[in-house]
Amino acid sequence: MTVNTAQFNSVYVDKVKHLLGEQGFELTFADIEDASGLPNAAYWSDDWLKLEQERVFQRSWVFAGAAAEIPNAGDMKTVEIGGAPLIIVRGSDNQIRALHNVCRHRGAKLITEPCRKSVLTCPYHRWSYGLDGKIISRPHFFGPDQHDVIKGGGGPKLDLVEARCENWNGCLFVNVSGDVEPLEDWLAPMLARTQNYDFSSIRWAGKLDFEIEANWKLVYENYMEGYHVFAVHPRLLKFAPMNVRWSGEWTKHVFYNDYIFPEVEEGRGEGLPGYPHLPEEDAKRGLWFLCFPHFAAEVYPDQFTLLVSYPVAPNKTREELHVFLIGEAATADEYKEPREALIKMWDDLNKEDIGMLELLQQGRLSPAYDGGRLSPHWEGPTHQFGRRIVEKIIT
Ligand code: FES
Ligand SMILES: [Fe+2]
Repeated sequence: MTVNTAQFNSVYVDKVKHLLGEQGFELTFADIEDASGLPNAAYWSDDWLKLEQERVFQRSWVFAGAAAEIPNAGDMKTVEIGGAPLIIVRGSDNQIRALHNVCRHRGAKLITEPCRKSVLTCPYHRWSYGLDGKIISRPHFFGPDQHDVIKGGGGPKLDLVEARCENWNGCLFVNVSGDVEPLEDWLAPMLARTQNYDFSSIRWAGKLDFEIEANWKLVYENYMEGYHVFAVHPRLLKFAPMNVRWSGEWTKHVFYNDYIFPEVEEGRGEGLPGYPHLPEEDAKRGLWFLCFPHFAAEVYPDQFTLLVSYPVAPNKTREELHVFLIGEAATADEYKEPREALIKMWDDLNKEDIGMLELLQQGRLSPAYDGGRLSPHWEGPTHQFGRRIVEKIIT
């Protein structure tokens, strides 16, 4: 089979073929029976990660944290999206903005860690900016003691550059390129499957951080397939055995999977309040989504839990697991015990996966690994994830 690449951007088709090889490129588009996963270079190459940053992450909606992480005016945190350093900041007008974390003078990074400030001052020559990114002053700019004080901002050449930032029920999303569809449209395939769930009731209960010695894509390739559950997750297997599972499917850019579990348990449906007015048919349902490229959401009757992986290097990933619970279950003392049990359940489960992800990464050092054979029953969506990465890069 030869893929017709006429509809794609030839500059990027060439780059992809150069890094993956002609055959690796072709196999990405083959039917699953003949296909393999992405070639090893997609997991180890710096150049490949740069392509993903520029073509995938910068040109998508990307989860940038919970609004509750910056609850007060002046609270800010740093994130890196598509390789671009950004500040997520809550302004005095309570509006949350994403500002590029780079001074308009000589380009110093402005902040390096979460903090609270009323003004953003560059450490190098002390140019200062408001929380809305507008420039305020440039000390000694016109000579000794000849300060430049600016009212109302300095326009597109002097104010900090802003990226699109949206707040969906306490989840913050950023789009660096500024030209993707509205957030609601991007979330629509997930929302269409979850109409019984009142997401306005979710509240942030906290997050777990993980450092993984593996490529960021492996997190999701693993997340999508329930095939490994019988071997890797003894507790999860008891809760939702293999015979309630299926492969899931993609609808547009959103992967979806679900099951009905036999009994609720602590951590999934027991001891914490559920979504208001959730119908009986959903009382024992687990659903999980991946909104391409990296917004993975698990929906159980009592929670909305996110697994989001940020590439750090080809073989290094920072993962954040955010837990949202229903109403006061997120913070009230009376729910402390079941809340902590739920978070521990996720911590344990995720660590079981991380051990496997690191083995997958190491295996991809072997010249004997050619992308592997995949199970048509279980791993169609995993295979399509690799294809989607390539398609996004070359489109
Ligand atoms: S680099 Fe920021 S003030 Fe000079
Ligand atoms: Fe797993």
